[in-house]
Amino acid sequence: MIEFMGKQLKNPLIASSCFATENVANVLRLAENGVQGAILKSCADYERGEVIGKREFAVDPTTGYTYASSPFKAEILTMEECLKMMQKLRSLTEILLIPSVTAASLSPEDWIPACRKLEKAGADGIQLDFFYMGNLIGTDGLSRRTVTLLRELNSVLHIPVMPKLNISLPKDYIMPLLVEGGVQYVSLLDSVRSPYLRKTDNAYHISDCLDAETTSCFGHWQLPLTIGYTYTAAKYGLKVCAGGGITCADDVQKLLAAGAVTVQSATFLTRYPDRGNNLLLSN
Ligand SMILES: Cc1cc2nc3c(=O)[nH]c(=O)nc-3n(C[C@H](O)[C@H](O)[C@H](O)COP(=O)(O)O)c2cc1C
Repeated sequence: MIEFMGKQLKNPLIASSCFATENVANVLRLAENGVQGAILKSCADYERGEVIGKREFAVDPTTGYTYASSPFKAEILTMEECLKMMQKLRSLTEILLIPSVTAASLSPEDWIPACRKLEKAGADGIQLDFFYMGNLIGTDGLSRRTVTLLRELNSVLHIPVMPKLNISLPKDYIMPLLVEGGVQYVSLLDSVRSPYLRKTDNAYHISDCLDAETTSCFGHWQLPLTIGYTYTAAKYGLKVCAGGGITCADDVQKLLAAGAVTVQSATFLTRYPDRGNNLLLSN
């Protein structure tokens, strides 16, 4: 058994915040197939309004790189949607339920009300998603503001917060700040903003199908980065839910060997919601 956020897990597999965890039916399907926890699709306290643009996917057939593009309003759950999903799931499943919250700034008042509501709805912990805030390096007082946010969240919540890291937050910079902020858990690794490349007439060019500024790239190539972040986080005593690039049981073993307590998958579990077992050693 593995202990994570106060629950005993039969295996280390958790579903990442993504399509696979954006509605009740998807999460229950994962739970029926042995997945021990779900980090719910990120939510924000905002009003959706009109959605301009659509969700798109592309897979480069030669490299296997996977790209996705989506406007914020088509992508991010509203607080009401997430709370409804959280309450429904809590009444239907015992797996770890970890909603994910994003906000427009590092000010604690932008995060605390949303996190409190989700705690009240039965969350086991809360993932803090900084992806939509762009590249934070260069923000005035980033270290101090990060530590203040984490300390304030920890002082008002009774459940753990788990920041989600992306490569815009260098590992040797961010880990000591998480420790200083009183954080015990860390989630990694988020997808990477990237232009979508296409090859025609033997030349690469930026695709006009997916938006070059908002497209994310994710997949198998992330694994070495994930291993590096995992190793560093574990060195700082953090409990890591490690993912980004997991495609098979061997990848999972590498992350556990690097110090992860649990592992998370988005792409694999979105494509194969019934095959989580393939990521576990005994299968
Ligand atoms: C379509 C899609 C939507 C995603 N949405 C979120 C999100 O809302 N919040 C979040 O923290 N990560 C999100 N992610 C990132 C994943 O959780 C994960 O970090 C990334 O895809 C790398 O893992 P993988 O190699 O298993 O796909 C999303 C990924 C994909 C593919």
